[in-house]
Amino acid sequence: MRFDPHLDAESGPNIDHLLRANFPTEFEANLVDILRKSRRMCAEHGLWDKGALVGYVGYSPVRIEGMDTKRQIWGLGPMVIDAGHQRQGHGKHFLEESLDYIEVDAVVLLGHVEFYSRQGFRPAIEFGLRYGEDDTRESAFFAMECWKGALEGHSGRVLYEDVFYRE
Ligand SMILES: CC(C)(COP(=O)(O)OP(=O)(O)OC[C@H]1O[C@@H](n2cnc3c(N)ncnc32)[C@H](O)[C@@H]1OP(=O)(O)O)[C@@H](O)C(=O)NCCC(=O)NCCS
Repeated sequence: MRFDPHLDAESGPNIDHLLRANFPTEFEANLVDILRKSRRMCAEHGLWDKGALVGYVGYSPVRIEGMDTKRQIWGLGPMVIDAGHQRQGHGKHFLEESLDYIEVDAVVLLGHVEFYSRQGFRPAIEFGLRYGEDDTRESAFFAMECWKGALEGHSGRVLYEDVFYRE
């Protein structure tokens, strides 16, 4: 397994294939395609196994509604491990390497509760951060401070790039 912190433009078809094969709808593949083409991805990391892309994680910028902060907060996702490689600890190690690599103040994400709650993420509401206006997705919304106190004084609705809301 090889961690790749610099997925280049040529990795597009590999990423697209991985996302289409492992998410139930095309939403994630289309989302990443738009974010890549509009150069809105902050970072993208890959996991390769014998020339095949088996893991992917992308980060994009988020804002807190009505707040002008100097803190750099990234939204993690989508993240995926290919089905044939899941539940073998690869996701955990990949995420650790990825989070070690990025240099930001905090990370938020909407995702798999059992997985992320074991990787050091806390329910975002504990920091006063919300995903949306309604409560339907709040239990799957997580946050992590990259240094203690990074999210102090930061609360409210987290806003992703517009394309995240086009379902
Ligand atoms: C979520 C995902 C990234 C986890 O990757 P993974 O390589 O399977 O995870 P790991 O093997 O490192 O799991 C670490 C721990 O997380 C938990 N976990 C992972 N997947 C889980 C699942 N499907 N159900 C319950 N717990 C899970 C377990 O505690 C696991 O430890 P264990 O296997 O010893 O019980 C992967 O399953 C995936 O890509 N799923 C499809 C896409 C997706 O849902 N992405 C997340 C939303 S952006």
